[in-house]
Amino acid sequence: MEIEWKDEILYKDLVKWGDRLKKEAPFFKKILEDMSKENARILDVSCGTGFHLVMLSKWGFSGIGVDISEQNVDEAVKLAKESSVQERAKFILGDILEIEKAVEGERFDFVYCIGNTLSIFSAEERNIIIQQLINALNPGGKILLQVVNYLSHSNDDVWYYNPNLKRSSNGSLNFHIRMMEWKERNQKVTMYVHNILQASKDSEDFKLGKKKTEFFVLRKDDFKKYQINEKLEVTFLGDYYWNEFDEEKSNDLVVIIDKIV
Ligand SMILES: C[S@@+](CC[C@H](N)C(=O)[O-])C[C@H]1O[C@@H](n2cnc3c(N)ncnc32)[C@H](O)[C@@H]1O
Repeated sequence: MEIEWKDEILYKDLVKWGDRLKKEAPFFKKILEDMSKENARILDVSCGTGFHLVMLSKWGFSGIGVDISEQNVDEAVKLAKESSVQERAKFILGDILEIEKAVEGERFDFVYCIGNTLSIFSAEERNIIIQQLINALNPGGKILLQVVNYLSHSNDDVWYYNPNLKRSSNGSLNFHIRMMEWKERNQKVTMYVHNILQASKDSEDFKLGKKKTEFFVLRKDDFKKYQINEKLEVTFLGDYYWNEFDEEKSNDLVVIIDKIV
């Protein structure tokens, strides 16, 4: 039996959080090194199940995570409580396209939208989103954006990301593999996630799951336009290790927008 899944599989059960945060933590530490833990306010846009904001809150920072998925927000609230940072890490339901409304006009010192989230939105929608993120930023603040650099696969017809075997929060095993192909070469990609899901812990029954998502290909030029404003400085990186962005080779496109005082 094959299922089309949307909410059956929790986002937190698809990602190896230990590995991911180990890779990303030093980058966040560096970006935040000049910010005051007591005073800086942080906004995690499309926060998923809250792992990043909870990590930053454990370091002493405070902020808000916003996501459109009720399931993700519930999981994030649970994670903050389990980590005893519920006073510093708050999570609310909200649409990224109306993010200023969701945070009731609050201003922030560090705003981030990572995990390839921006790639699901059209150019017009991204412009609405990024303008709002800029508006929500205090002078001296920073925006961090991360998307996958699909152009590094320009010459591939089909490619795969690492197969991943993970135990879900209910104890069952979940194996998944992500297959990518061009929908429109160098413009749009289709991702197929195929899962093999154990019916329950220790069960010998497995079911197949699949999910299809389309992403826009984003490039440096999509973000360069924000540089025009003299109060904004835009920096491009190719990963979370501070390597320069190379369109043909970099796995990621990481964008930092500084709002000059
Ligand atoms: C790939 S996940 C990234 C989550 C997290 N930022 C990370 O890096 O792991 C994309 C997230 O965007 C959220 N999302 C999708 N559409 C949204 C919207 N219109 N407004 C707010 N969040 C949205 C999803 O619910 C999901 O949690």
